[in-house]
Amino acid sequence: MSMVFAMAGKGGVGKTTFSALVIRYLLEEIKAFPVLALDLDPNSNLNELLGVKVAHTIGEARELLKKEVPSGITKDVWFEYKIHEAIIEGKGFDLLVMGRPEGPGCYCAANSLARQSIETLKKNYRFIVIDNEAGMEHMSRLVTQNVDSLYILSDPTPRGLVTARRMIDLMDELNLNIKETHVIINRIKDKGIEDFNGIAFAEKTGIRIDGAIREDDELIKIDSDGKSIFELDENSKSIVDAYEILKRTIRV
Ligand SMILES: Nc1ncnc2c1ncn2[C@@H]1O[C@H](COP(=O)(O)OP(=O)(O)OP(=O)(O)O)[C@@H](O)[C@H]1O
Ligand SMILES: [Mg+2]
Repeated sequence: MSMVFAMAGKGGVGKTTFSALVIRYLLEEIKAFPVLALDLDPNSNLNELLGVKVAHTIGEARELLKKEVPSGITKDVWFEYKIHEAIIEGKGFDLLVMGRPEGPGCYCAANSLARQSIETLKKNYRFIVIDNEAGMEHMSRLVTQNVDSLYILSDPTPRGLVTARRMIDLMDELNLNIKETHVIINRIKDKGIEDFNGIAFAEKTGIRIDGAIREDDELIKIDSDGKSIFELDENSKSIVDAYEILKRTIRV
């Protein structure tokens, strides 16, 4: 059985960064190759942090489905082929990018095919890491209904925590099959979670915080230099903090 990890949170809180950290953790510490990374953000950028280039996307395959498929094969088979073509092979991971939906119109049939193909593909991997776009509404439609661990990222502000709370409520309404939810406070400027002055506020709003990641200048440098997460020093704050959280929350 595969284990699915997914990220949620409002814009810019660190979903993509944490996805990359989870992937590095799985490769280094659990050594289960390859990990499947799914980038469901239309503004996909997980590939940059993973140090690979995107050639094709699922979105493209969906678009092509609206046109004629080559003669002699069925739509399903052709779509399956296109999905496989979109898999980007990295060192220890495969990355599949949803891409930007093009043009108006309903993608219902294509979406359902995409979902089927991805569900089939997922069976080939022990670990699947899903980076989502900001917000949660799309999660019911696409491929993230079944999640073992959902990490809700938040910035260290009361407003961030209110959004996290809203997301937890929304998930209940969407009836997703999520086994565990973990709220992670990212970019903490204090010494660590103990010093985070939002704890009391979080408790008031009924949120349990499962961990914190400190503000990490080395991570910012990696980002601005266009380097990958694999080039980040293993003693950097974000690696140390993320790994501590993952050791506690990923039980295999
Ligand atoms: N712990 C951290 N310390 C310093 N910078 C960080 C940290 N976490 C994330 N960042 C930076 O914050 C910015 C936003 O992070 P990221 O792209 O991961 O957020 P996101 O939630 O995926 O954003 P979006 O909603 O746009 O997809 C990036 O420039 C990233 O390098
Ligand atoms: Mg992102």
